[in-house]
Amino acid sequence: MTETSDILFRKLEKEFLLSRDQLALIVDGFLDEFKLGLKTPSKGLATMIPSFVTQLPTGNETGTFLSLDLGGTNLRISAVQLLGDGHVKVLEVKHAPSKELKTGPGDVFFDWIADAVEELITVKARHLFSPEQVAGDATLALGVCWSFPVDQTGVNRGTILRMGKGFTLQDTEGQDLAHMFHEAFERKGLNVKLSAILNDTVGTLVAHAYSNPRSRIGLIFATGVNAAYPEKVENIIKLDKETRDKYPAGTEMLLNTEIDIFGTEAYLPLTDIDLAMDKSHNQPKFQLYEKMMSGAYLGELTRLVAMDFIKNDALFNGQVPEGFDEEWSFPTMYMSALERDMTANRQVSLEKILGKYHFEQTPSLQDIAILTRICRIVSTRSAQLCSCAIAALIQQQGLVQKSNADIIVGMNGSTYEFYPFMEERVHRALREWFGVEISDRIRLEIAHEGGSVGGALIAMLAS
Ligand code: BGC
Repeated sequence: MTETSDILFRKLEKEFLLSRDQLALIVDGFLDEFKLGLKTPSKGLATMIPSFVTQLPTGNETGTFLSLDLGGTNLRISAVQLLGDGHVKVLEVKHAPSKELKTGPGDVFFDWIADAVEELITVKARHLFSPEQVAGDATLALGVCWSFPVDQTGVNRGTILRMGKGFTLQDTEGQDLAHMFHEAFERKGLNVKLSAILNDTVGTLVAHAYSNPRSRIGLIFATGVNAAYPEKVENIIKLDKETRDKYPAGTEMLLNTEIDIFGTEAYLPLTDIDLAMDKSHNQPKFQLYEKMMSGAYLGELTRLVAMDFIKNDALFNGQVPEGFDEEWSFPTMYMSALERDMTANRQVSLEKILGKYHFEQTPSLQDIAILTRICRIVSTRSAQLCSCAIAALIQQQGLVQKSNADIIVGMNGSTYEFYPFMEERVHRALREWFGVEISDRIRLEIAHEGGSVGGALIAMLAS
C-alpha cells in the first residue's frame, strides 16, 4: 500500500464506516419518520402504508391458492399449495415483460397478465384445481404482490400510483388496480377474483410467519430495500377514526414502511460520493437511504470511489481504464465477485470480472487488493445501514423490553442472500449496536418465496 492509498483509505473509512453516534442519529431519524408517516395520509410519496392485513398465519393453514407477483423484472403466477406445519409447494408460470409491454397501453399489459393466469390454471397447474375452477364455473381467489406504489384503501383495493422500475404504462395512473385486473379477466373469460393486494415486504413477513409465527419484521434487501411490521391500529392515526374503531382494541395491522424513501441530509451521513451519485440519477433527492445501501447502487458508489483513487494515482497507475468512467458501468455483481474470490488467482479473476474495460496496463495484484478493499468498505456501510432499519423496527415495537423471546426477522433479497459476508456484516453491526446479549436474540431468517407464498396466504386469510 502506498502512502497516498493509505491516506485515501483513512479518509474513506472515516466517512463510510459509521460511528455509534452516526448510527444513533439514523435510528432516531427513522423513529421520527415512523411517527410522522403514521399520521400523514398515504398520497403521493407515501410511507407507513396500511396493508389492511390484521392477521398473521399460524402455519396450520392448508389448501391451494393463486398468487401473482409483479416486480421490476418478472411476472410470476403461482399455484401455492399450503401443506400445513409450515410447509408449502409452489408451481409457477414465469414471464418477463418486454419493453413494449412495460411502456404500452395498460389494457394490453393486463391482457398479457390474464394470459399467464390462464396458462397456469388450464395447463401448468390444471391438476391442482377442480374441474369447475378450470372451466371457470367456480371462482378462484388471487393475491397480488405489487412491488410498486399503490394508494391502498382496503385489503383488495388500491389506486395505481406512478410506477418506477422501467414501467410507464399508459392510462393506468389513478385507476383502481382491482378493476384493471377484473376487466382483463372478464375479457378472457376467467373466473378469478382479486382478494388481496400487498407490497413485497408484507408478503415476505406473512410468508415467513407461516414457517415461524413469531416473525415481527419482513425486510427486503435486494435491488431496493424496504420493510414491513405489525403496528397497533390505534397508532395508525392516518386511518380515519371510524375505520380504526372497527377493529377490536389491540388489533395489529401490517404496515409497509417504504423505508426506502426515508432519509434527509439532517440525519443521513451523506458523503460527497453519495451526493455525486444522487445528482447523476434520474430521480435526484428520491430514496436517499436506499441509494446509500441497496444492490442497485453499491456498484456505482464503488466506481465513484475508485475513480477518486485513480485520480490520485493510487489505483491502475493513475490511468482510467477505457469504459470505467462510464456512469453505472460497474454493477454490484462485480463487487460480489471481487469479494468472493479470496483464494484463486486474483489477477486472472480481475481480468475476467473487469473484462469489459480496456486497461493500458494489466492491473497488478496491488490494484486488485485496493479495489476489493473499497468494495468491502462500501458494502460494510450498507450492512450497517441495513442494521439501522432493523434496530429502529425493533425499537418501534418495543421488542427488547416486551419479553426475553427471540426476535424473528424474515429477510429476503439478493443483496442480503448472495453478497459475500453480507449476513455476517449485518449481524456484526447489530451486535455492535445492541450488545451480545440482545443481538443473540435477533434471528435473521431467510424468508423464501415472499411474493408468491405471501400473496397466496393473504388471499386465503382475506377470502
Ligand atoms: C420499492 C418498494 C419495495 C422495495 C423492495 C423499493 O424500491 O419502492 O415498494 O418494497 O423496493 O423491492
